[in-house]
Amino acid sequence: MKLKTILAAALLAAGMSVSAQTVIKFSHVVAADTPKGKASVFFAQKAAELTKGKVKVEVYANSALYKDKEEMEALQIGSVQMLAPSLAKFGPLGVKEFEAFDLPFIFDDTADLHKVTQGPVGAALLAKLEPRGIKGLAYWDNGFKSFSANTPLKAVADYKGKKFRIQSSKVLEEEIRSVGGIAQVMAFSEVYQALQTGVVDGTENPISNFYTQKMHEVQKHLSLTNHGYLGYAVIVNKKFWDALPADVRGQLEQAMNEATVYANKIAQEENDLSLDGVKKSGKTTVYVPTKEERMALKKAMAPVHTKMADRVGKETLQQIYQATGFDPSTL
Ligand code: LMR
Repeated sequence: MKLKTILAAALLAAGMSVSAQTVIKFSHVVAADTPKGKASVFFAQKAAELTKGKVKVEVYANSALYKDKEEMEALQIGSVQMLAPSLAKFGPLGVKEFEAFDLPFIFDDTADLHKVTQGPVGAALLAKLEPRGIKGLAYWDNGFKSFSANTPLKAVADYKGKKFRIQSSKVLEEEIRSVGGIAQVMAFSEVYQALQTGVVDGTENPISNFYTQKMHEVQKHLSLTNHGYLGYAVIVNKKFWDALPADVRGQLEQAMNEATVYANKIAQEENDLSLDGVKKSGKTTVYVPTKEERMALKKAMAPVHTKMADRVGKETLQQIYQATGFDPSTL
C-alpha cells in the first residue's frame, strides 16, 4: 500500500474525512487569447488561490471539449460544470429572452449594455435559467460585432443575396433577412472552414473572434459596422453548484466577481489589439462605414425589433429599453 493510501485509511478509521479536490471543467469555444479565454484562465487562478487549492478549474478552450450545441447538453447532464456561451445561444435551451441582446443597434455603447447586465433586468434573465438546471453567475463582455465578406460591405445592397454564418439565434436570422442576406446557423468551430471553402460568404463577430480564428485569412473585407452586441453569460450546473460547501461557493463567487471585473476591463483592449492585427496582416481591407451608411443599415434592420418582440418577450424588451433609455421610435 502506498503511504498516501495508508494515511487516508488511517484518517477514515479515525472518523476524519479525506477531502478530495473539486474539479470544475470550464469549456468554451473561443481562442485562449480572447476576452473570454483570458478571463476563464483568470477565474481558474483566482479560484485556486481563494479556495486554497480545494477547487481546481480546468479550462478547455477552442471547442477542444465540446462545440456550441454539445456544450449546453454537457452542462445539463453534468459532463462539464461551467460554460460561458454567448447570449445568442440560449434560444435552443428555451430561454429566448436572451436573444434581446442580439437586436441590432439596441445598445449605443458598453455603458448602455451594463445598465442591463449589471442591473435587475440582467439578474432576472439569469434567474430564468434555473428551471433548466442552470445557474447564471455573471455576464462577461466581449464587444460589438462587425460584418465581413469577400466583397466590400458598404451599402445595404451589398448584403443582398450573400450567405452569412450566424449563431443559433432567431433574432440574428431576422437581422440577416432584413438586409436581404441568407442566414446560416453554424457552430463557431466550423466558421473558418466554411468561409475558406465558400460554404458561406461572410460572417459577423467582434474583431477579437475574427482575428484569433484567423478569419482575416479567408475574408477580404471587414466593415466596422458595430451593429450589434456579443457577450457572455457564465453558467454552472445548478445541482453541482448547490452541492458545494457554502464557504467554497462563497470563495468561488468572489473569484467570479474578480474575473468579471477583469473580463470587462480587457474586452475593449483585446478587440483593439485584434483590429491592429487584422490591419497589420494586410489580408483584409478594413472599412469604416460613413455615418450615412451606418444609418442606412440601422434603418434596414429596424423592423427586427418589432418582428422579434414576441420572441424575446415584450416585457423583457420594454425593461431593456427603459434601462438604457433607448427609444425604438428613433430607429
Ligand atoms: C460565435 O459563435 O460566433 C461566438 O458566440 C463565439 C464566442 O463564444 O464568442
